[in-house]
Amino acid sequence: MSRAPLAHLNGALVPLAEARVSVLDRGFLFGDGVYEMVPAYGGRPFRLEAHLDRLGRSLAAVGIPNPHDPGRWRAIVEEVVAANGGGDLAVYLQVTRGAAPARDHAPPTDLRPTVLVMASPLRPRAAEVMEAGVSAVRLEDIRWARCDIKAVTLLANVLARREAARRGAAEAILVRDGEVTEGAASNVFAVLGGVLVTPPKGPRLLPGITRDVVLELAAAEGIPAREAPVAADDLDRAEEIWLTSSTRELVPVTRLDGVPVGDGRPGPLWRRLDAAYQALKARHRAGA
Ligand code: PDD
Repeated sequence: MSRAPLAHLNGALVPLAEARVSVLDRGFLFGDGVYEMVPAYGGRPFRLEAHLDRLGRSLAAVGIPNPHDPGRWRAIVEEVVAANGGGDLAVYLQVTRGAAPARDHAPPTDLRPTVLVMASPLRPRAAEVMEAGVSAVRLEDIRWARCDIKAVTLLANVLARREAARRGAAEAILVRDGEVTEGAASNVFAVLGGVLVTPPKGPRLLPGITRDVVLELAAAEGIPAREAPVAADDLDRAEEIWLTSSTRELVPVTRLDGVPVGDGRPGPLWRRLDAAYQALKARHRAGA
């Protein structure tokens, strides 16, 4: 993507650097909006339908009318991908409630949602991450009670990542009432007694698309997997811990709060499922 990036803003394709919204936009003033992040491989959006479904659920949950049907969304995403040269991209979709005449917590009912779709290069994961894994820290989950909505209101997530970075870690693993919820920008998997476990879907975490793919692949590979609560302390005895997200894929956590996870190396189940994930991506890229 050497050319200047182009973005879709409210129906028009514009240079990203020139895209502008009103300071009265409720996304800017209140974080009143939702978003998606869709990876594209070889210029082809991956699991787009699942992302658009989740976007629809987020919009419905906050009462913002969905500005487009799935066909129109797909056309916009494909246009932005093509306009940015195709290849491997992270495509960001954002819908806010729109710009009101004045700042007021109570939203007018007749606003036109603001729609932004932009893309940035999706870089291959660093060799170092694959060989050595990453560090994570456990932090108290101070977010709201509807983390299943992919809201742009991410201040608590930002603060968690900031604190993780301050402690030299790549991610914060969030803990509420003694249980793992998810990462600040990822879902969490642990291998406990040879079984892959991830916290169940519900209002405390985002139902990750990559999380679903990993569970599908585990079933296909015959790896025992469960969606069940994970106590924060369970992570102290986990053989493996992974993070999953659309942009980071499957990332092995090899140090937790400064202590090695398992033998301190990316584990065998991660290796198997990461290989399966890479194979799925390759098939998708090839048009399968
Ligand atoms: N975030 N949980 C949170 C809080 C997230 O922000 C994300 C992803 C996930 C993983 O979801 P998925 O597998 O659908 O990407 C879980 C994206 C990548 C972001 O905010 O950029």
